[in-house]
Amino acid sequence: MRHDLAVYPGSFDPFTLGHFNIVGRAAQIFDRVIVSVAEDSDKNAMFSPEERFEMISKIFHGSKSIEVDRFQGLLVHYLREKNCRVLLRGIRTVSDFEFEYQMALANKTLNDEVETFFMMTEGRYSYLSSTVIKEIARLGGDIGTMVPQEVVQYVRSKYQV
Ligand code: COA
Repeated sequence: MRHDLAVYPGSFDPFTLGHFNIVGRAAQIFDRVIVSVAEDSDKNAMFSPEERFEMISKIFHGSKSIEVDRFQGLLVHYLREKNCRVLLRGIRTVSDFEFEYQMALANKTLNDEVETFFMMTEGRYSYLSSTVIKEIARLGGDIGTMVPQEVVQYVRSKYQV
């Protein structure tokens, strides 16, 4: 299993500048980072898996070290398929920790070879979440400083703002 590769999974509904910041910093540590869209997320998503995959692909288009992918089913199965043992997650606040801790332990139980690496989200993005962005956009607010430019168009098209 490879150590130079990290998988950064998420529902990314939509992808935010907080996610972008984590990926950029991780790409300075790992030779390759795969940003992978969870297609089976139990969240009631606004964007289809295709749309989420498409918007993230546009963001990282041309990058040699960052790949965009999607997966179905269990994350540990996907990691095995990719021959990758590093699972990357961002933590914004203490409240994220409980869920992440539980998920890391569950994944470790399912596949002992998988190691979860946590990165602290940069302070200026710690208030961001996909839900906050959708709420602001729905009410006509400016999300230009919260998501990559490529994502702004997708969100606007949903709300016609
Ligand atoms: N900056 C800003 N926001 C961030 C962030 C960061 N660095 N990191 C997380 N977030 C926010 C997201 O915006 C999102 O907000 P929301 O709750 O309002 O939607 C939330 O934190 C977490 O979303 P995301 O980072 O997209 O990941 P997720 O928690 O939706 O992903 C999976 C969970 C997909 C990794 C998990 O469900 C999974 O592995 N699914 C596959 C099935 C499986 O194996 N299940 C068993 C796992 S034990």
